[in-house]
Amino acid sequence: MSNKTKELEDRIAEAKLGGGEKRIAVQHSKGKLTARERVNLLLDEGSFEEIGMLVKHRSKNFGLDKQVFLGDGVVTGYGTVNGRLTYIFSQDFTVLGGSLAEAHAEKICRVMDMAMKNGAPVIGLNDSGGARIQEGVVSLGGYADIFFKNTMASGVVPQISGIMGPCAGGAVYSPALTDFILMVENTSYMFVTGPNVVKTVTNEEVTAEELGGASTHSTKSGVTHFSCGNEIEAITNIKKLLSYIPQNCEEEPPNLDYEEGDESRHKLNDIVPENPNQPYDIKEVIEGVVDLNTFFEVHKNYAENIVVGFARIGGRSIGIVANQPAVLAGVLDVESSKKGARFVRFCDAFNVPLLVFEDVPGFLPGTDQEWNAIITNGAKLLYAFSEATVPRITVITRKAYGGAYDVMNSKHIGADMNYAWPTAEIAVMGAKGAAEIIFKNDIKQADNPEEKWKEMEQLYSDMFANPYRAASRGYVDEVIKPHQTREKLIRAFKMLENKAEKLPKKKHGNIPL
Ligand code: HXC
Repeated sequence: MSNKTKELEDRIAEAKLGGGEKRIAVQHSKGKLTARERVNLLLDEGSFEEIGMLVKHRSKNFGLDKQVFLGDGVVTGYGTVNGRLTYIFSQDFTVLGGSLAEAHAEKICRVMDMAMKNGAPVIGLNDSGGARIQEGVVSLGGYADIFFKNTMASGVVPQISGIMGPCAGGAVYSPALTDFILMVENTSYMFVTGPNVVKTVTNEEVTAEELGGASTHSTKSGVTHFSCGNEIEAITNIKKLLSYIPQNCEEEPPNLDYEEGDESRHKLNDIVPENPNQPYDIKEVIEGVVDLNTFFEVHKNYAENIVVGFARIGGRSIGIVANQPAVLAGVLDVESSKKGARFVRFCDAFNVPLLVFEDVPGFLPGTDQEWNAIITNGAKLLYAFSEATVPRITVITRKAYGGAYDVMNSKHIGADMNYAWPTAEIAVMGAKGAAEIIFKNDIKQADNPEEKWKEMEQLYSDMFANPYRAASRGYVDEVIKPHQTREKLIRAFKMLENKAEKLPKKKHGNIPL
């Protein structure tokens, strides 16, 4: 081997060691993988091509000139996931705590630029102590460069953030600008200000895990879409997520070959209970309709009164939004509206057709909801559906009441096909409340007001608590038996596969944020 080749090999070996064996051992002792181990797990074996392995920082402040590591604390490059091109950056906590400064940021920006030019997703694996304190404002500039690129890439290529360690301060805003965030329980956290600052400013005592751990962000704040038991699970979920979505906004999601057979699913006939006020699990409906074991839930533990996720139907990748009667009777509230809207917008941006299952008694009443702007937040979901140009289909399984009927992908706001099951009730409100209002005087003057109320409730119910009024107007295209749903949907999505719809010319809309 020539000296020059030896020199190259030595440099590569040095770069691959990151912050050195001792720091790698510390990383492992915390139950964490290294940046390179994560890259190798995520990408197809042998597919990783590294970019910028020999990049160094240029700072001399506070002894940094004596702490120079090849690669500057982030592993960047490209490879394939299930054979499809993917760009990646993976922060190396063993190098200066994965802190971000000029050169580190430039490497991240470079893969993001390439992802945009070549139309492929960017996966960011975050594990960093934040801005490199010794480099000062240059680090802040680096972050801002990344934030800007995240924003420019939004809606052009999918961006996914895996939080594998600390992610604090302004650093949280890069993941926040991406499409999906995954966190690892107990070893990752995200917050704008950490427990010490919180204690100083508000006198609250809180641990890092309570303040910004995976379970907090997957249940309370909704910041993260997936809470994962360990890093392997997080990486497996990233791969799964990629399998449902296209490489960029110009492409269609990957569809699997499928030959139509007997698509009747008789189990669906027994899910909605006789009693309209009895809950049931909408996930049974979803799983009964879509291709076997393909439902991949997103935001599973947040705002559980709405269910969102990806699935396949007849091999076709779709996004599902469904009211969940098993939680809060499936009402729409502030959180569920935000959750639904964000998912609808992702699907629309990346050409994933939408399927809605509707069983909604309305918007949740109360001061809490009004003061937390259910008006503005409910409007987000309405806006998101209204402007979505992907194929859109709704199946009303039971209640479709009030404003929520309009919002949940009704025909009026541009849905392509609207089906209802015979159990559907499409009305301004429930029969009991309606009877109380419109027959107030009749009830008051009756010899037996209670009986009269029941009679009037039945009258209203007979008139509106069914799908036939809506069907007679064409608001519902077809009333179908539950077991026919899968077949109808496979055919309807196929019929809609070349749908081309354009929004009116504008700079951009003004979604009520
Ligand atoms: C430079 C850093 C660093 C940083 C950690 N290190 N964070 N070096 N800049 N931001 C170094 C440590 O000095 C140490 O070096 C090594 O990384 C590992 O750190 P430890 O503290 O030993 O690790 P651990 O005990 O696991 O603690 C992790 C940590 C802690 C909680 C993240 O390191 C920490 O609090 N770091 C500072 C966090 C911070 O305040 N960042 C700036 C936030 S402001 P050696 O040589 O000993 O191995 C910010 C603004 C962004 O990010 C704004 C964007 C708009």
